[in-house]
Amino acid sequence: MEAKLFANQIIKWYDYHKRDLPWRHTKDPYKIWLSEIILQQTRVAQGLPYYEKFVMTYPTVFDLAKASETEVLRLWQGLGYYSRARNLHACAKMVVTAYNGSFPDSYDELLKLKGIGTYTAAAIASFAFDKANAVVDGNVYRVLSRVFGIKDDIASSQGPRVFRKKANELISQDRPADYNQGIMEFGAMQCSPATPACGLCPVSLECYAFNHNEQLKLPVKTKKVKVRERHFNYIVFRVGESYYVKERGPKDVWQGLYDFYLIETPKEEPGDVLLERLSEAVKRAAVIEDDSQVYKHILTHQRIFAKFYLVELENESSIAEMDGLRACTVDELKELPKPILIQKYLEREIF
Ligand code: ADE
Repeated sequence: MEAKLFANQIIKWYDYHKRDLPWRHTKDPYKIWLSEIILQQTRVAQGLPYYEKFVMTYPTVFDLAKASETEVLRLWQGLGYYSRARNLHACAKMVVTAYNGSFPDSYDELLKLKGIGTYTAAAIASFAFDKANAVVDGNVYRVLSRVFGIKDDIASSQGPRVFRKKANELISQDRPADYNQGIMEFGAMQCSPATPACGLCPVSLECYAFNHNEQLKLPVKTKKVKVRERHFNYIVFRVGESYYVKERGPKDVWQGLYDFYLIETPKEEPGDVLLERLSEAVKRAAVIEDDSQVYKHILTHQRIFAKFYLVELENESSIAEMDGLRACTVDELKELPKPILIQKYLEREIF
């Protein structure tokens, strides 16, 4: 299909079908950047309230840069992939210190910022500055592979480059922002993964996949991610009104969020096996309540199963030696950024 015709059809479709979303009414690169970071790996319905919260709490990049990381993580809580929030905060600081608070307007400069990859750089350059840099996300892979019969594996090393090249040949020079929004919206609403609406599609007659009945074979993606199962056993120490929490460190999920004393085991273990891992002093001092519920958390590369044991202690002497434990009240606990399965446990059992 000819490039200009394709771009015109996408823009025409978008003008008619686009959803009314708040970040589509602004040219402010800060708000556009916020929306794009929030919407990575997140559906619009889930991301929308977070976008509103962030814009309200931090109306400018200066406000976000000034905030503490803990506060940003707390506001992010529930969105997952928390490195996005840490990068968001680091990027805001970079924009303030290195660019006087103004986002750079070119794709190459944007790429230098923390947490901004090829997709986000193209999104900001086009939406905020009308530059003809084509976005390539999951929707774009699907639309281009189907319409143009591109069979390069998107999980291979050269795949993304092939698609980026094609996308940059197709992008409208007159309306790059609407073309980019349009092709993503088209992929999300019309050319969907399992049930593309080919009967109503403006490009179906020239679509490779439609004409070869290969809609469900495209895009090609071979690499299967290995999923690791992890079993988290949380020991929730309580002394009087205080609970003992721990800030999570680097090199694992949830860096900077708070959880409890953790015993990780390769498989699910009964409570008495875990107790054997606690010191004699704790066992002597403790009253233990087993919460029978298993809390599940699914990530791209791991599945986490968590169980919680509430351990009541007379005083903190038996846990004083344990690294990094910090006492906090229920009110303080509510304010800390926490993984969502910790939040669920607390809402069920403690708050
Ligand atoms: N997902 C990622 N970016 C988006 C945008 N700008 N509009 C709608 N959904 C999106």
